Amino acid sequence: MTSGELKKQFIKFFVERGHKRIPNSSLIPENDPSALFINSGMHPLVRFLLGEPHPLGRRLVNYQRAVRTGDIDEVGEKNSRHLTFFEMLGEWSLGDYGKKESLTWTFEFLTQVLNLDPYRLYVTVYKGDDVIPKDDESIKIWQDIFSKFGIEAKVGESFTVGPDAPRIILLGEDNFWAVGNVGPCGPTSEVFYDKGYGENPDNRFLELVNNVFMYYNRTKEGRLEELNQKNIDVGWGLERILSIIHNLDQNGNVLDVNSVFETDVFIDQRNWLINKWGKSEFEYLNDGSVRKAIRVVLDHIRASVMIISDGVEPSNKDQGYVLRRLIRRAVTYGWKFSAGSSDYLIDLGSMCIDRLAQDEEYTFILNNKHRTLSVLENEVNKFEKVLSQGVRELNKVNDNIISGELAFRLKESLGLPIEITLEIAASQGKEVDIEKYNLLMQEHQIKSKIGAEKKFAGGLGDYSDISICYHTCAHLLLAGSKMLLRKDVHQKGQNITSERLRYDIGYPDKLTEEQIHLLEDWVNEQIVRDLKVDFIETTFAKAKEYGVEGMFIDKYEALEIVKIYRIYPKELNVHPTDLVFEDKDKYVSLEFCGGPHVNHTSEISKFGRFKIIKEESAGQGVRRIKAVLV
Ligand code: SER
Repeated sequence: MTSGELKKQFIKFFVERGHKRIPNSSLIPENDPSALFINSGMHPLVRFLLGEPHPLGRRLVNYQRAVRTGDIDEVGEKNSRHLTFFEMLGEWSLGDYGKKESLTWTFEFLTQVLNLDPYRLYVTVYKGDDVIPKDDESIKIWQDIFSKFGIEAKVGESFTVGPDAPRIILLGEDNFWAVGNVGPCGPTSEVFYDKGYGENPDNRFLELVNNVFMYYNRTKEGRLEELNQKNIDVGWGLERILSIIHNLDQNGNVLDVNSVFETDVFIDQRNWLINKWGKSEFEYLNDGSVRKAIRVVLDHIRASVMIISDGVEPSNKDQGYVLRRLIRRAVTYGWKFSAGSSDYLIDLGSMCIDRLAQDEEYTFILNNKHRTLSVLENEVNKFEKVLSQGVRELNKVNDNIISGELAFRLKESLGLPIEITLEIAASQGKEVDIEKYNLLMQEHQIKSKIGAEKKFAGGLGDYSDISICYHTCAHLLLAGSKMLLRKDVHQKGQNITSERLRYDIGYPDKLTEEQIHLLEDWVNEQIVRDLKVDFIETTFAKAKEYGVEGMFIDKYEALEIVKIYRIYPKELNVHPTDLVFEDKDKYVSLEFCGGPHVNHTSEISKFGRFKIIKEESAGQGVRRIKAVLV
């Protein structure tokens, strides 16, 4: 069964059971500022799981593209089941049917459509905690299902092997699923396939499907609330399932090499790449470094073309940063095997696009193919230049040891990853003084932290016009937060580039959409009101007594004379040259600051309106706001 056939069979199976097919959404979440990528089939459905009626009813089915980078280091390991980009088959009951139907259909699909041997299937069930009881209902349902095959399903606490091995394993945290820290969530019941060999249960049993009983909602305060609507969210890893059904011997054992790369999703590109690098199948199977490199390149390039097709470009932030990292990792892993030229990655990208576009849901990526490949090529070329320059520098070394200083300089000035320096050195029979390198890196990290704080204390590093406007917006944002959120909100951090303002405030709760809109409106109002901005210099003691706001107050303390930036209220016509105590509460904002700032808030409007594009947690009690002028 190919991936295409599996998708068709899956949709058909659940449509026959009353489900409506829903589309596969973009990888970029529409209304979830807390996530960079869609990471599961239920992710675009959060609001329906919370109770909003779905226009297509209460039973839904689809397959959904997803990205997860949490396990990026695992990609390409032997028998690896990890991919950064993957597809999930999923079906949902939005407060409709219950566990019995769900688990029964799961088992039917596995045994009747995929023809998997029921004796090889093991399940997990939630063992309960202080709030949620043990899932006895699922235990009972699974025992009934297994008994139909003459299997006595014993309950145990861990996966073991042998005639007395439990069939139903009770687990805790591993059997609880949530998309993030807040929102719909619940205990799960998963089905595993026994590959038939190996003592280590982590390798021997492979999870195929996850039935989540989304009966709860986690509030922003971290409380679990029971939902009125009892949902079921079932997710099946497409490539994982293929890695099993494509790699079974006649006894039902899984072949030794059984990764997701040995499936029709990857096999043509895989063979092409082995050939391109002048390797053999034997080397691929037996040389761990060749195998890992091939797999990493395959995974990362496939993920990259999909992410670019969904509108992302490489950059140093957010989705763009993840994309950049994927492309650079692919170049790095392939470098040693590709004689220093990464052009083949563009051909591989083209193959990945053609392969993906065989699916009707993904034909759109063919229309974008030209752009996608040129974005990919651009980034590959940029990074190749870095690599080549690094190699030139390393070639100049007339010693068997590459100094830690040189490795550090290549990393800092060129962005040459240390792994590459190690590779190149090894290929030249040289060693790298890695201890010294690590030491220098550590020192550097400490220095840049202090530097960042100093930069703040002394004003902006970047004096471009728009950065100055963002800087004044930062003062307005803090003033607005004090007014609209809580009087004692303080700044916890700030970072300004010419593209955006990032601002951290001490505030315990996630901001609601309404609060975000209020803040935006308030800041925009102050921009329109054309408030005067200036600074005065006064003594630290006086400023402190006056209650001037500032993040690095202790740093300013060392200075005799400090600079205070003031944003005036419209009605304050007198502009005293020092702080007048009676005016204390009249200013819109008063902050210790090195500047620079605009002279009048209306200057900001030449870059557009102030808009908050993201709000997320930045640690305990700290909210991070990202805002732009558009
Ligand atoms: N949301 C669950 C998962 O991703 C099941 O769909 O595993």
